[in-house]
Parts: sequence; structure tokens; C-alpha cells
Amino acid sequence: MIVTIDGPSGVGKSTATRELAARFGFEYLNTGSMYRAVALAMHRLGVPTSDERAVGAALAGVRVEVPLGRVLLNGADVSGLIRTPEVSRGASEVAVHRAVRLLLVASQRAAAVGRDIVCDGRDQGSFVFPLAECKFFLVADARVRAERRAAELARDGATVSVEDIHRDQETRDHRDTQRDLGPMRPAPDAVVVDTTTLTTAEVVERLENIVLAVRSCK
Ligand code: DC
Repeated sequence: MIVTIDGPSGVGKSTATRELAARFGFEYLNTGSMYRAVALAMHRLGVPTSDERAVGAALAGVRVEVPLGRVLLNGADVSGLIRTPEVSRGASEVAVHRAVRLLLVASQRAAAVGRDIVCDGRDQGSFVFPLAECKFFLVADARVRAERRAAELARDGATVSVEDIHRDQETRDHRDTQRDLGPMRPAPDAVVVDTTTLTTAEVVERLENIVLAVRSCK
């Protein structure tokens, strides 16, 4: 069974994905971390993330793997290095490029073969797994999303103002929804859940009930 959870940043996707996967004993795939790893690779190589041709040429030397919730870049664990605002910006920029999307979408599809899996991202239900049995699209008020991200970064020891995060998120959302290939949008058959006033536990419970209902119909 494939469950997809899409939506912009700060709506609670990754926590919901992890929790839901744990409850059902499914694997989970955080696809944003793959775009983040590519952005980190480009920063290290000195390749501008907005330069499609240069990014495409450098991709041959970039290997991204996501075993057990960790992110490996050319075999080295970079999980702790990809949550910075700089990498967030770069990830949204590399995600526009066709070569990057085709590469990562292929490995996301390969990761799901023969598995029960919960995947989160922007295009999982609408593009990567159009036949997924259960699709969610999470939304939340923009200010609340920025506050959640600021709190997350603060827990990691970084101080970034809510205003800066809000501005960054607006720019990323615009880029993520406007690109040609795999833009962020709910699949026609996705259940849209507004998490603005919900706790993580409430979000997970709501999603879990829907997965249970879908599973009982199979
Ligand atoms: O979910 P996240 O904030 O870690 O994602 C970082 C960026 O990666 C996001 O701005 C857009 C891109 N992304 C994407 O284009 N498609 C996905 N399935 C996941 C992320």
C-alpha cells in the first residue's frame, strides 16, 4: 500500500509521515530531503542551484540515498546538514530542473516497489504515485507554518525570525507551485486536511482513520 502526504513546508507533513508509518509498520520516505541533498551537493561543488545546465552537468557525480530515514550524499550521512535556510532555498531551486526531478522521481518509485510505504513531498500523489491508494494534502495558515518552522529550527539551535521564514516560504511556495514538472498541488483524489488548529496527534489520528477505512475496503 502506498500513502502519500503532500503540502507546503510547516504543515506537519514529515512528523505525520513518520508517525503514520510507525503505526502501520510501513516504511517512510521524506522526499524533500533528497532535493535538499542535491542542493547541498551543488553548494559544495560551487554550482549555482538556479543554473539548470550546470546543475544537470554536475548531477552525474551526485548519488543520493535515503536508508531508514537518513540521507546519504555519495555515501556520507548529511542528515544533520540539510535543514538550514540556505539549503531550503537551494532545494526549491534545484527542484525546478527537469534532470533533477527525473532522477529523484525514478529513485522514489524504485524505493516503493513491493513495499508498504508513506511518502511525503509536493508531488507524491499528483505525479510520482498517481495510483497510490491513499492520498493526503495538508495545508495550514501561512503565519502558523512559519512559526512552526521557527520553533523547529530553534530546537536545532538556530535562531531565524518568523518574518524571514515567512518570506522564504512564500518564495518557495510560489516556485514549487509554478514549475512545469511535478508542481505542488493536491491530486484530484487527495483528502485535504487543514492542520492550522490541530495538534500533531490529532493530525495523525485523522489520517490514520482514513487509511484504516481505505484498507478495510481493499
Ligand atoms: O519538504 P521540504 O521543505 O524538505 O522540501 C524542500 C524543497 O524540495 C521544496 O521547497 C521543494 C522540493 N521538493 C519537491 O520539489 N518535491 C518533493 N517531492 C519534495 C520536495
